[in-house]
Amino acid sequence: MESFIEEVRGRLSTASRVTVLTGAGISADSGIPTFRGPEGLWKNFRAEDLATPEAFERDPKLVWEWYNWRRELIAAKEPNPAHRALVKIESGMEARQGRFRLLTQNVDGLHGRAGSRNVIELHGNIWKVRCTGCGTVTEDRRVPIPIPPHCASCGKMLRPHIVWFGESLDPRDMDRAVEALENCDVMLVIGTSGVVQPAATFASTARGAGAFVVEINPDASSSAAQIALRGRAAEIVPQLV
Ligand code: OAD
Repeated sequence: MESFIEEVRGRLSTASRVTVLTGAGISADSGIPTFRGPEGLWKNFRAEDLATPEAFERDPKLVWEWYNWRRELIAAKEPNPAHRALVKIESGMEARQGRFRLLTQNVDGLHGRAGSRNVIELHGNIWKVRCTGCGTVTEDRRVPIPIPPHCASCGKMLRPHIVWFGESLDPRDMDRAVEALENCDVMLVIGTSGVVQPAATFASTARGAGAFVVEINPDASSSAAQIALRGRAAEIVPQLV
């Protein structure tokens, strides 16, 4: 393990372009539950009832109650050493005119709170709301949010600014993600099960374009990785700085 960590540290220190993909596992060390696995949210809740446009149409109150519960949970959590280590890697790359891109599937906003600058939130952000009428996206950090919340401009109902199952990613985010994957020397894949598309194919896209792909996860998840560092993100990522 130590020699693998050393190798990755060496590659990061000379890379001119680094792209990182994170999933719920990086925030698990902040105490936020992941989605899959024995303690995962999808063990106790049905995604079909809570995280689809149909579910929201059927029962917006239920969906908002679930998001209020998650807002309350996330509001009490802090970025952990893995989030902070990525900020250090980004600063180091900027200092030597390198490019650092962070693609996250997480909606908790912890990368931004830790200080990461170049973040693409592929699945949206739990602290943003979007109007179902006029489409305006605004930040709304109320916990709990009054149910149902309404748009200040047009009065229509607000929904969480989250990409639900059955919905597509913002095409601009997707373009930026593909560009970051096809143009990186090193890719770190941290704490994602790699089962949700399109992020599930990101590691192989980067590998196919010549990147050295490293997975950081206590369990095997990406077959595209050349090196797998098995362990918790908060323990491993700081060692890569
Ligand atoms: P998952 O819950 O599917 O996977 C979490 C991954 O984190 C698993 O591979 C775990 O082994 C790993 N893990 C657990 N603890 C860890 C730790 N301390 N350090 C590092 N890794 C750890 O979460 P995602 O892959 O992020 O979508 O799930 C993808 C999407 O599915 C989510 O963005 C969400 C969900 O439905 C939306 O909310 C739209």
